[in-house]
Amino acid sequence: MKKLIRYFIGDENIRKIKLNRRMMVNYMSDYKLYKRYSTLYNKSSLENKEADLILNYHSIEKGLLHEKIKPRFARHRVEMLIKLLSDNSIRGSISRSQIRVAFCVMCEYYELHLKLSVDIEDFFPKVEYDQFRTLLKDDYKETFEGALSFNKDEFYKHIESNFYNFSNSRKSIRHFTGEKIDVDRIQNAIALASNAPSVCNRQASKVYLIQNKDDIDKVLEVQGGLNGYTDKIRQLLILTNDRRYYYTIGERNQFYIDGGVFLMNMLYSLHYYKIANCPANWGKMINEEASVYKLLDISESEKIICVIAIGESESKFRVTLSKRRPVEEIFIIK
Ligand SMILES: Cc1cc2nc3c(=O)[nH]c(=O)nc-3n(C[C@H](O)[C@H](O)[C@H](O)COP(=O)(O)O)c2cc1C
Repeated sequence: MKKLIRYFIGDENIRKIKLNRRMMVNYMSDYKLYKRYSTLYNKSSLENKEADLILNYHSIEKGLLHEKIKPRFARHRVEMLIKLLSDNSIRGSISRSQIRVAFCVMCEYYELHLKLSVDIEDFFPKVEYDQFRTLLKDDYKETFEGALSFNKDEFYKHIESNFYNFSNSRKSIRHFTGEKIDVDRIQNAIALASNAPSVCNRQASKVYLIQNKDDIDKVLEVQGGLNGYTDKIRQLLILTNDRRYYYTIGERNQFYIDGGVFLMNMLYSLHYYKIANCPANWGKMINEEASVYKLLDISESEKIICVIAIGESESKFRVTLSKRRPVEEIFIIK
Protein backbone atom coordinates (compact mmCIF):
# COMPACT_ATOMS: atom_id res chain seq x y z
CA MET A 1 0.00 0.00 0.00
CA LYS A 2 2.79 2.38 1.02
CA LYS A 3 4.62 1.62 -2.20
CA LEU A 4 1.46 2.36 -4.16
CA ILE A 5 0.94 5.75 -2.46
CA ARG A 6 4.60 6.60 -3.04
CA TYR A 7 4.25 5.61 -6.69
CA PHE A 8 1.21 7.88 -7.27
CA ILE A 9 2.21 10.85 -5.15
CA GLY A 10 5.95 10.79 -5.77
CA ASP A 11 8.85 10.97 -3.29
CA GLU A 12 9.29 14.72 -3.59
CA ASN A 13 5.61 15.41 -2.89
CA ILE A 14 5.66 13.07 0.11
CA ARG A 15 8.68 14.93 1.45
CA LYS A 16 6.80 18.22 1.02
CA ILE A 17 3.66 16.91 2.74
CA LYS A 18 5.76 15.75 5.72
CA LEU A 19 7.55 19.10 5.85
CA ASN A 20 4.25 20.97 5.73
CA ARG A 21 2.90 18.94 8.63
CA ARG A 22 6.04 19.55 10.71
CA MET A 23 5.97 23.26 9.84
CA MET A 24 2.38 23.51 10.97
CA VAL A 25 3.06 21.64 14.22
CA ASN A 26 6.01 23.93 14.98
CA TYR A 27 4.25 27.18 14.08
CA MET A 28 1.20 26.01 16.03
CA SER A 29 3.42 25.42 19.05
CA ASP A 30 4.87 28.96 18.68
CA TYR A 31 1.31 30.24 18.45
CA LYS A 32 0.14 28.33 21.54
CA LEU A 33 3.11 29.40 23.65
CA TYR A 34 2.76 33.03 22.63
CA LYS A 35 -0.93 32.87 23.39
CA ARG A 36 -0.31 31.19 26.73
CA TYR A 37 2.47 33.42 28.02
CA SER A 38 2.50 36.84 26.34
CA THR A 39 0.48 39.69 27.82
CA LEU A 40 -1.84 39.51 24.80
CA TYR A 41 -4.24 37.26 26.73
CA ASN A 42 -2.62 37.14 30.15
CA LYS A 43 -1.97 39.69 32.78
CA SER A 44 -1.71 37.26 35.64
CA SER A 45 1.99 36.45 36.11
CA LEU A 46 4.38 38.86 37.79
CA GLU A 47 6.29 39.01 34.51
CA ASN A 48 3.12 40.04 32.60
CA LYS A 49 2.44 42.75 35.15
CA GLU A 50 6.05 43.88 35.06
CA ALA A 51 5.88 44.15 31.26
CA ASP A 52 2.85 46.43 31.55
CA LEU A 53 4.59 48.43 34.20
CA ILE A 54 7.73 48.95 32.09
CA LEU A 55 5.72 49.92 29.02
CA ASN A 56 3.91 52.60 30.98
CA TYR A 57 6.76 54.00 33.07
CA HIS A 58 9.04 54.12 30.01
CA SER A 59 6.42 56.19 28.25
CA ILE A 60 6.56 58.69 31.12
CA GLU A 61 10.37 58.70 30.90
CA LYS A 62 10.00 59.64 27.23
CA GLY A 63 7.68 62.48 28.17
CA LEU A 64 10.34 63.78 30.54
CA LEU A 65 12.78 64.21 27.62
CA HIS A 66 11.15 67.34 26.25
CA GLU A 67 12.80 70.62 27.14
CA LYS A 68 9.42 72.06 28.02
CA ILE A 69 7.37 69.49 29.88
CA LYS A 70 3.75 69.40 28.81
CA PRO A 71 1.79 69.68 32.08
CA ARG A 72 -0.37 66.64 32.86
CA PHE A 73 1.34 64.68 30.05
CA ALA A 74 0.75 60.93 29.71
CA ARG A 75 -2.27 61.05 32.02
CA HIS A 76 -3.52 57.71 30.73
CA ARG A 77 -0.15 56.09 31.55
CA VAL A 78 -0.19 57.55 35.04
CA GLU A 79 -3.67 56.18 35.68
CA MET A 80 -2.56 52.76 34.43
CA LEU A 81 0.50 52.85 36.65
CA ILE A 82 -1.50 53.77 39.75
CA LYS A 83 -3.64 50.73 39.09
CA LEU A 84 -0.69 48.44 38.43
CA LEU A 85 1.27 49.71 41.41
CA SER A 86 -1.61 48.96 43.76
CA ASP A 87 -1.37 45.24 42.91
CA ASN A 88 -0.27 43.15 45.90
CA SER A 89 2.16 40.95 43.96
CA ILE A 90 3.79 44.06 42.51
CA ARG A 91 4.04 45.75 45.91
CA GLY A 92 5.41 42.54 47.37
CA SER A 93 8.17 42.53 44.75
CA ILE A 94 9.41 46.06 45.18
CA SER A 95 12.96 44.72 45.48
CA ARG A 96 12.81 44.01 41.73
CA SER A 97 14.58 46.79 39.83
CA GLN A 98 11.83 47.56 37.31
CA ILE A 99 9.11 47.76 39.94
CA ARG A 100 11.22 50.04 42.13
CA VAL A 101 12.03 52.34 39.24
CA ALA A 102 8.33 52.55 38.28
CA PHE A 103 7.58 53.87 41.77
CA CYS A 104 10.48 56.33 41.47
CA VAL A 105 9.30 57.64 38.08
CA MET A 106 5.83 58.17 39.52
CA CYS A 107 7.24 60.14 42.45
CA GLU A 108 9.25 62.28 40.04
CA TYR A 109 6.13 62.90 37.93
CA TYR A 110 4.21 64.04 41.00
CA GLU A 111 7.00 66.28 42.28
CA LEU A 112 7.50 67.85 38.87
CA HIS A 113 3.86 68.96 38.81
CA LEU A 114 4.13 70.17 42.39
CA LYS A 115 7.09 72.35 41.36
CA LEU A 116 5.14 73.67 38.37
CA SER A 117 2.09 74.25 40.61
CA VAL A 118 -0.03 72.19 38.23
CA ASP A 119 -2.90 70.40 39.92
CA ILE A 120 -3.06 66.66 39.07
CA GLU A 121 -5.11 65.61 42.10
CA ASP A 122 -7.96 64.46 39.78
CA PHE A 123 -5.87 61.58 38.39
CA PHE A 124 -2.88 61.34 40.72
CA PRO A 125 -3.97 62.03 44.31
CA LYS A 126 -1.42 63.02 46.96
CA VAL A 127 -2.39 59.99 49.03
CA GLU A 128 -0.99 57.71 46.28
CA TYR A 129 2.22 59.70 46.08
CA ASP A 130 2.66 59.51 49.87
CA GLN A 131 2.12 55.76 49.74
CA PHE A 132 4.66 55.33 46.93
CA ARG A 133 7.27 57.21 48.96
CA THR A 134 6.55 55.11 52.04
CA LEU A 135 6.81 51.88 50.05
CA LEU A 136 10.14 52.92 48.55
CA LYS A 137 11.61 53.49 52.03
CA ASP A 138 15.36 54.20 51.67
CA ASP A 139 15.15 53.74 47.90
CA TYR A 140 13.24 57.01 47.63
CA LYS A 141 15.64 59.71 46.43
CA GLU A 142 14.59 63.27 45.88
CA THR A 143 17.35 63.50 43.27
CA PHE A 144 16.02 60.61 41.15
CA GLU A 145 15.76 61.48 37.45
CA GLY A 146 13.97 59.42 34.80
CA ALA A 147 15.79 61.40 32.10
CA LEU A 148 19.51 62.15 31.89
CA SER A 149 20.94 65.36 30.39
CA PHE A 150 23.99 65.41 28.16
CA ASN A 151 25.92 67.76 25.99
CA LYS A 152 27.20 66.30 22.73
CA ASP A 153 30.94 66.36 23.55
CA GLU A 154 30.41 64.68 26.87
CA PHE A 155 28.11 62.09 25.30
CA TYR A 156 30.63 61.00 22.67
CA LYS A 157 33.76 61.23 24.80
CA HIS A 158 34.03 57.43 25.16
CA ILE A 159 33.74 56.40 21.52
CA GLU A 160 37.48 55.63 21.28
CA SER A 161 37.59 54.21 24.78
CA ASN A 162 37.58 50.57 25.91
CA PHE A 163 34.47 48.45 25.31
CA TYR A 164 33.28 48.80 28.91
CA ASN A 165 33.11 52.59 28.66
CA PHE A 166 31.98 52.56 25.05
CA SER A 167 29.07 50.20 25.69
CA ASN A 168 27.99 52.11 28.77
CA SER A 169 27.97 55.35 26.79
CA ARG A 170 25.57 54.26 24.01
CA LYS A 171 22.04 55.55 24.43
CA SER A 172 19.03 56.15 22.22
CA ILE A 173 18.72 59.79 21.19
CA ARG A 174 15.38 61.13 20.04
CA HIS A 175 16.27 64.80 19.53
CA PHE A 176 17.83 65.61 16.18
CA THR A 177 18.83 68.93 14.63
CA GLY A 178 17.20 68.02 11.31
CA GLU A 179 20.59 68.24 9.58
CA LYS A 180 21.35 65.24 7.34
CA ILE A 181 24.31 62.93 7.89
CA ASP A 182 26.66 62.41 4.91
CA VAL A 183 25.88 59.16 3.15
CA ASP A 184 29.61 58.23 3.35
CA ARG A 185 29.49 58.39 7.13
CA ILE A 186 26.38 56.21 7.21
CA GLN A 187 28.04 53.78 4.82
CA ASN A 188 31.06 53.53 7.11
CA ALA A 189 28.76 52.73 10.01
CA ILE A 190 26.96 50.00 8.05
CA ALA A 191 30.30 48.53 6.93
CA LEU A 192 31.41 48.37 10.56
CA ALA A 193 28.06 46.87 11.60
CA SER A 194 28.58 44.05 9.12
CA ASN A 195 31.14 42.59 11.53
CA ALA A 196 28.04 41.17 13.18
CA PRO A 197 28.15 37.38 13.28
CA SER A 198 25.36 35.45 11.60
CA VAL A 199 24.29 31.83 11.35
CA CYS A 200 26.87 29.99 9.17
CA ASN A 201 27.97 33.47 8.06
CA ARG A 202 24.88 33.72 5.86
CA GLN A 203 24.68 37.52 6.31
CA ALA A 204 21.01 37.90 5.48
CA SER A 205 20.68 41.44 6.84
CA LYS A 206 20.20 44.44 4.60
CA VAL A 207 19.87 48.14 5.43
CA TYR A 208 17.79 50.68 3.49
CA LEU A 209 18.36 54.42 3.87
CA ILE A 210 15.22 56.52 3.43
CA GLN A 211 15.71 60.25 2.94
CA ASN A 212 12.48 61.42 1.35
CA LYS A 213 10.57 63.17 4.15
CA ASP A 214 7.15 62.11 2.85
CA ASP A 215 8.26 58.47 2.83
CA ILE A 216 9.83 58.85 6.27
CA ASP A 217 6.61 60.28 7.68
CA LYS A 218 4.55 57.49 6.15
CA VAL A 219 6.81 54.84 7.69
CA LEU A 220 6.83 56.62 11.05
CA GLU A 221 3.07 56.90 11.00
CA VAL A 222 2.81 53.13 10.68
CA GLN A 223 5.59 52.68 13.25
CA GLY A 224 3.86 54.88 15.80
CA GLY A 225 6.48 54.74 18.58
CA LEU A 226 8.28 58.02 17.90
CA ASN A 227 5.28 60.33 18.06
CA GLY A 228 6.29 63.76 19.26
CA TYR A 229 9.81 63.45 17.82
CA THR A 230 9.15 62.89 14.12
CA ASP A 231 9.52 66.51 12.85
CA LYS A 232 13.30 66.52 12.78
CA ILE A 233 13.75 62.96 11.57
CA ARG A 234 15.16 63.41 8.04
CA GLN A 235 16.86 60.05 7.65
CA LEU A 236 15.62 56.60 8.49
CA LEU A 237 17.38 53.26 8.30
CA ILE A 238 15.33 50.15 7.76
CA LEU A 239 16.96 46.89 8.72
CA THR A 240 15.64 43.73 7.11
CA ASN A 241 16.62 40.09 7.20
CA ASP A 242 15.91 37.81 4.25
CA ARG A 243 14.03 34.52 4.74
CA ARG A 244 15.61 33.15 1.56
CA TYR A 245 18.78 32.37 3.52
CA TYR A 246 17.15 29.90 5.92
CA TYR A 247 16.40 26.30 5.26
CA THR A 248 15.25 24.22 8.24
CA ILE A 249 12.06 24.31 10.29
CA GLY A 250 14.23 24.76 13.37
CA GLU A 251 15.48 28.01 11.80
CA ARG A 252 12.01 29.45 11.44
CA ASN A 253 12.82 32.31 13.83
CA GLN A 254 16.51 32.61 12.99
CA PHE A 255 16.01 35.72 10.83
CA TYR A 256 14.81 37.59 13.93
CA ILE A 257 17.92 36.47 15.81
CA ASP A 258 20.39 37.35 13.06
CA GLY A 259 18.54 40.61 12.45
CA GLY A 260 18.72 41.40 16.17
CA VAL A 261 22.43 40.68 16.33
CA PHE A 262 23.00 42.95 13.32
CA LEU A 263 20.81 45.65 14.88
CA MET A 264 22.86 45.77 18.06
CA ASN A 265 26.10 46.01 16.13
CA MET A 266 24.61 48.74 13.99
CA LEU A 267 23.57 50.77 17.03
CA TYR A 268 27.15 50.54 18.31
CA SER A 269 28.56 51.43 14.88
CA LEU A 270 26.30 54.46 14.54
CA HIS A 271 27.37 55.54 18.01
CA TYR A 272 31.03 55.11 17.02
CA TYR A 273 30.51 57.44 14.04
CA LYS A 274 28.64 59.93 16.27
CA ILE A 275 25.42 59.39 14.40
CA ALA A 276 22.60 59.96 16.88
CA ASN A 277 20.04 57.21 16.62
CA CYS A 278 16.93 55.70 18.07
CA PRO A 279 15.74 52.21 17.11
CA ALA A 280 12.01 51.98 16.66
CA ASN A 281 10.10 48.77 17.11
CA TRP A 282 8.64 46.99 14.10
CA GLY A 283 6.30 44.63 15.90
CA LYS A 284 3.66 44.98 13.23
CA MET A 285 0.84 42.87 11.94
CA ILE A 286 0.97 41.97 8.24
CA ASN A 287 -1.88 44.31 7.31
CA GLU A 288 -0.12 47.20 9.09
CA GLU A 289 3.23 46.73 7.36
CA ALA A 290 1.89 46.01 3.85
CA SER A 291 1.80 49.69 2.84
CA VAL A 292 5.45 50.16 3.84
CA TYR A 293 6.62 47.15 1.80
CA LYS A 294 4.76 48.60 -1.17
CA LEU A 295 5.97 52.17 -0.65
CA LEU A 296 9.63 51.15 -0.38
CA ASP A 297 9.46 48.23 -2.77
CA ILE A 298 10.87 45.77 -0.25
CA SER A 299 10.60 42.09 -1.19
CA GLU A 300 8.14 40.09 0.90
CA SER A 301 10.96 37.59 1.49
CA GLU A 302 12.58 40.20 3.74
CA LYS A 303 11.34 40.74 7.28
CA ILE A 304 11.63 44.28 8.56
CA ILE A 305 13.44 43.88 11.87
CA CYS A 306 13.62 47.49 12.99
CA VAL A 307 13.57 51.06 11.75
CA ILE A 308 16.23 53.38 13.11
CA ALA A 309 15.87 57.15 13.15
CA ILE A 310 19.25 58.79 12.63
CA GLY A 311 20.60 62.32 12.52
CA GLU A 312 22.90 64.84 14.15
CA SER A 313 22.14 65.18 17.83
CA GLU A 314 21.39 68.57 19.26
CA SER A 315 24.24 70.12 21.27
CA LYS A 316 22.31 69.42 24.45
CA PHE A 317 19.75 66.68 24.82
CA ARG A 318 18.17 64.29 27.26
CA VAL A 319 17.91 60.52 27.13
CA THR A 320 15.71 58.17 29.12
CA LEU A 321 17.18 56.59 32.22
CA SER A 322 15.99 53.17 31.00
CA LYS A 323 17.31 51.57 34.17
CA ARG A 324 18.75 48.12 33.56
CA ARG A 325 18.11 45.07 35.67
CA PRO A 326 21.07 44.16 37.89
CA VAL A 327 22.90 41.00 36.89
CA GLU A 328 21.33 38.99 39.76
CA GLU A 329 17.93 39.43 38.09
CA ILE A 330 19.02 37.98 34.75
CA PHE A 331 21.96 35.63 35.33
CA ILE A 332 21.07 32.20 36.69
CA ILE A 333 23.74 29.66 37.45
CA LYS A 334 22.24 26.16 37.40
C1 LIG B 1 13.90 46.80 18.92
C2 LIG B 1 13.74 48.11 19.63
C3 LIG B 1 12.59 48.85 19.42
C4 LIG B 1 12.44 50.10 20.02
N1 LIG B 1 11.32 50.85 19.75
C5 LIG B 1 11.23 52.10 20.22
C6 LIG B 1 10.14 52.93 19.85
O1 LIG B 1 9.24 52.52 19.10
N2 LIG B 1 10.11 54.20 20.32
C7 LIG B 1 11.10 54.69 21.13
O2 LIG B 1 11.03 55.86 21.51
N3 LIG B 1 12.14 53.91 21.51
C8 LIG B 1 12.24 52.65 21.06
N4 LIG B 1 13.30 51.86 21.40
C9 LIG B 1 14.35 52.40 22.25
C10 LIG B 1 14.25 51.82 23.66
O3 LIG B 1 13.26 52.51 24.35
C11 LIG B 1 15.61 51.95 24.33
O4 LIG B 1 16.55 51.20 23.59
C12 LIG B 1 15.59 51.43 25.75
O5 LIG B 1 14.78 52.22 26.56
C13 LIG B 1 17.00 51.44 26.34
O6 LIG B 1 17.52 52.73 26.29
P1 LIG B 1 18.89 53.07 25.55
O7 LIG B 1 18.77 52.65 24.12
O8 LIG B 1 19.04 54.57 25.68
O9 LIG B 1 19.99 52.33 26.25
C14 LIG B 1 13.45 50.60 20.86
C15 LIG B 1 14.59 49.82 21.08
C16 LIG B 1 14.75 48.61 20.48
C17 LIG B 1 16.01 47.82 20.71
